[in-house]
Amino acid sequence: MTERRELRIWRGEGGEGAFASYLVEAEDGEVVLDLVHRLQATQAPDLAVRWNCKAGKCGSCSAEVNGRPRLLCMTRLSALPPDQPVVLTPLRAFPSVRDLVTDVGFNYAKAREVPAFVPPPGLAPGEYRMQQEDVARSQEFRKCIECFLCQDTCHAVRDHEENLAAFAGPRFLMRVAELDLHPLDAAAETGLDRARSAQEVHGLGYCNITKCCTEVCPEHIRITDNALIPLKERAADRKYDPLVWLGAKIGLR
Ligand code: SF4
Ligand code: F3S
Ligand code: FES
Repeated sequence: MTERRELRIWRGEGGEGAFASYLVEAEDGEVVLDLVHRLQATQAPDLAVRWNCKAGKCGSCSAEVNGRPRLLCMTRLSALPPDQPVVLTPLRAFPSVRDLVTDVGFNYAKAREVPAFVPPPGLAPGEYRMQQEDVARSQEFRKCIECFLCQDTCHAVRDHEENLAAFAGPRFLMRVAELDLHPLDAAAETGLDRARSAQEVHGLGYCNITKCCTEVCPEHIRITDNALIPLKERAADRKYDPLVWLGAKIGLR
């Protein structure tokens, strides 16, 4: 069945702009990105939108639909109120470039601030052995498609731009957690305490476990329960538990 849906899209450049409304034909089973493509093809060829795979795997088409951070290619029209316009805005936490495109460079800067995996001394790749539960933990975190919806939704930066410099955000705190919980990571032997650096360098204290990041993650990664809370516990242990502190000093994890 073909119907007409109203798209209300924020259009502008560098943060200056206004909403524009369009009526666009929609077919059964379509997603929001289908309508955006039809709009580009028929009425607004200059509309800026970022996308790539149309399969929920590249993380490019992140925007806000009716005020909620979502992937445009994975948001079915049937899941939205049929009698109301579909309101599309760019990710709010990042600087606007044009229309639905934002500058997500902040995230790449934060990624570079997390020191890489330190290989265990004396073992070559291929000789590493890990318990299956440790493999499964890393695999869950590595499902991340870097859509940055979690970064966009976290109130620590969404409503507080001034925190951007000090807060790595859930995606990159999850990366710190992955490495801190990794049984083969030898960062401690280089003097790097990842859990403490999460607190002192990457702003873990800004997170008050509201779980909004987990709710919007299209890969259903349990960011808060499996990464942020364990990281907070480990950071507290390292700081306040004298036995854990001593163990870390002498190389016991
Ligand atoms: Fe996107 Fe989830 Fe990765 Fe965050 S953790 S960037 S929401 S896939
Ligand atoms: Fe933000 Fe997620 Fe923590 S939304 S407050 S990083 S639990
Ligand atoms: Fe790749 Fe939407 S276009 S995730």
